[in-house]
Amino acid sequence: MRAWPYLTGMAVREVLVAPDPRLKVKARPVGRVDDSIRALMDDMVETMYAANGIGLAAPQIGVDKRVIVMDLAREGEPPTPRKFVDPEIVWASDEMVPCEEGCLSVPDQYAEVERPKQVRVRFRDENDAVQEIDCDGLLAVCIQHEMDHLEGVLFVDHLSALKRNMILRKVQKARRQKAAE
Ligand code: NI
Repeated sequence: MRAWPYLTGMAVREVLVAPDPRLKVKARPVGRVDDSIRALMDDMVETMYAANGIGLAAPQIGVDKRVIVMDLAREGEPPTPRKFVDPEIVWASDEMVPCEEGCLSVPDQYAEVERPKQVRVRFRDENDAVQEIDCDGLLAVCIQHEMDHLEGVLFVDHLSALKRNMILRKVQKARRQKAAE
C-alpha cells in the first residue's frame, strides 16, 4: 500500500532528462542528516516509485546533494526502500562484470556497462548513523550507477562516444515527438 502524499507531505518531483546540465554537476556532501534530508528522501522514494525506477539520485530531481534512494524488491514483494546519504566506495573487487543498465534520466534506452562485481559502501542512514554495506549482483550495479549521478556521470558516459551520441539523439528525438503530440 502506498501512503497518500497529501497526508504525509510527500511529493512526486519531476525527473530531469539528459542532456539537462543539472545532471552533469558534482553533488555536494550533506554532512548531518536532518528532517529536511529525510523529507527529501521521502520525495525521492515517491518519485522513484511513480516512475517505476529501482534507484534515484538527488541530482536527477535537480537537488545538488549526495543522496540516493533505491528499492530492489521484485514484483509482488513488499516495498523495501533503501536510503543512502554521502555514500562512498571503500572497497571494490578487481573482478568486473557487464550488466545492461537503464536510467530514468535517459528514458527507454539500455546499454551494457562494465563495473566492479562487488563493492563495499560506507554511508549515513536516515538516522545519521554511519553504516557499511557489502554489495553484489543487482545491488552492486544499482548503487554504483546511482553514485555515478553524484559525480555528474550517466551510464552513457561509460560508452563509446558513438554509442553515447546515438542514445542521446534518440532521447532528444523522443522528447521532441512527445512535446509535439
Ligand atoms: Ni540513473
